[in-house]
Amino acid sequence: MVRNFYDMVQRVTLFLSKYPKIVLALVIQLLALGILALGVSVAPYFFPPPYSYEILVFIQALLAVLISRWIGLPMWWLFIQFLLSIGLYIGMAIEFNPVWALLLFGVLWLLFRNAITERVPLYLTNQTTRQALKKAAKELSHTQPKIHFMDLGCGLGGNVVFMSQQHGVVQSHGVETAFIPYAFSKLYSRIGGGEVFAQDIWKTDLSDYHLVYAFLSPEPMPKLWQKVLKEMPKGSVFISNSFAVPNVEPSDIWQLPDGRETILYIYRL
Ligand SMILES: C[S@@+](CC[C@H](N)C(=O)[O-])C[C@H]1O[C@@H](n2cnc3c(N)ncnc32)[C@H](O)[C@@H]1O
Repeated sequence: MVRNFYDMVQRVTLFLSKYPKIVLALVIQLLALGILALGVSVAPYFFPPPYSYEILVFIQALLAVLISRWIGLPMWWLFIQFLLSIGLYIGMAIEFNPVWALLLFGVLWLLFRNAITERVPLYLTNQTTRQALKKAAKELSHTQPKIHFMDLGCGLGGNVVFMSQQHGVVQSHGVETAFIPYAFSKLYSRIGGGEVFAQDIWKTDLSDYHLVYAFLSPEPMPKLWQKVLKEMPKGSVFISNSFAVPNVEPSDIWQLPDGRETILYIYRL
């Protein structure tokens, strides 16, 4: 019976792994609540009620952490799982207006929606890396004198503007779907140069770009590589900041002398 239950949990986990981690985390919270409710309904046979809310909330938090650990959620999710029910309880105890939470969620969504849907948060390319992009464009200009540059998921648009000002780059574009970064980068590129589109990476045709840059996460790299292979023209260059394409040998690896020891993976096609 234990084996059957374990198999069932494995199957449910496998099914849920297709969804973002947040869905799995919520299902685990509901499961913890169910176990707690079951415990509370049998507890009177052993301990006389009432039971303190603080202890029940603590048990809920602990159960959520244990199940998350068992199912294999990453470590940082265990902290979120622990704090979720405790935070909700404290929020209710101090009568925190949920409209504020909704507003905060709205702002986070507008800024970081791709962290949930694509598992790619917003963090920015630094100046050392931009200088390396400039060097890459210079090298490429020997064979391709009119470079079209693309930043996939361009964040605040800094790379698009910077590359639009480089010698040999005749077109500098970026695509972005998170609302606040898009609005900012659109405005910034209007002023500084280049052009930004409110467009999904997966709907962006790469066949017209000679230099494509991505600073995303490990998650999309295999799928992105297939897109690069399919669409980018011969002789073009794909650069990934920090995240290598699994099982593909890069043409070059540049280790940059910045604080975070950025690694650029260069793929010449
Ligand atoms: C790590 S940030 C890099 C920002 C910028 N390229 C830079 O290097 O400074 C990744 C960006 O990609 C965006 N992004 C993620 N998935 C995307 C998608 N499918 N379509 C468009 N943008 C996406 C995110 O919103 C985020 O702004």
